[in-house]
Amino acid sequence: MCKGLTLAIKLNIKDISAGYGAVRALHGVSLDLEQGQTVALLGTNGNGKSTLMKCVMGMVKPDSGSITLEIDGHSHDLTALSTEEIVNLGVALVPEGRRLFPKLTVEENLLLGAFRQSARAEIERNMAFSFEAFPVLAERRRQLAGSMSGGQQQMLAIARALMSSPRLLLVDEPSVGLSPLLVSQTITKIKELKDEYSLTVLMAEQNFNQAMRIADYGHIIVHGEIVFHGDVDTLLSNKLVKSFYLGVEA
Ligand SMILES: Nc1ncnc2c1ncn2[C@@H]1O[C@H](COP(=O)(O)OP(=O)(O)OP(=O)(O)O)[C@@H](O)[C@H]1O
Ligand SMILES: [Mg+2]
Repeated sequence: MCKGLTLAIKLNIKDISAGYGAVRALHGVSLDLEQGQTVALLGTNGNGKSTLMKCVMGMVKPDSGSITLEIDGHSHDLTALSTEEIVNLGVALVPEGRRLFPKLTVEENLLLGAFRQSARAEIERNMAFSFEAFPVLAERRRQLAGSMSGGQQQMLAIARALMSSPRLLLVDEPSVGLSPLLVSQTITKIKELKDEYSLTVLMAEQNFNQAMRIADYGHIIVHGEIVFHGDVDTLLSNKLVKSFYLGVEA
């Protein structure tokens, strides 16, 4: 990862529909991400947040619609690429539930994040950045990932994604299972990392108030459809959005 280096990246998701056999999870979803933005994908359980992230990563193929990643003026059709090719373009996912290798050490988990070809040359530097960003990982580099606390495991999952030198970071529900203080610290950390590494971030989150702290823009997804989107001020001032769709006290 090159600190301070600004590369223009843009994600355009247009009208995608996707599902799993008979289960239809997304219906005509469109969403844009501009360079340097943090966009929140808000919605309660089972509404399609993870499915949308998986579509961007090539892990679920949409039935229709397009997903285009523009990098420095070149367009890439992500629906035609494998997950590995998408990672190679500089897209990384911090998956829901972290998906660490519990029987491997912190350091080994980090190394596995560096499989992207161009990231291999940057292993040492990215490892140093990860340890700088999350000192607890340096202290516990030889501890088994499965024996770390929930918050530490989330830090490790984020650091592992950073090991692939991403330009676009997808984070699927970073706050799940964390105490309120750790939720707040994790969200703050994502913002710091974004600023430091000029990342563009798409974050799925159920914690509306925490997501709004760092997002520039938000989309609310209900039953696989974006029912409302707007900048943070618009979302924060819309009481109906908060109480009806998210169950947050307005
Ligand atoms: N592998 C799968 N096979 C069949 N149906 C699936 C699969 N994965 C997800 N679904 C269904 O697709 C819909 C959307 O699920 P998805 O995981 O995208 O929701 P989500 O918004 O991420 O929910 P959560 O907040 O609980 O993680 C749900 O109805 C879910 O049951
Ligand atoms: Mg999910």
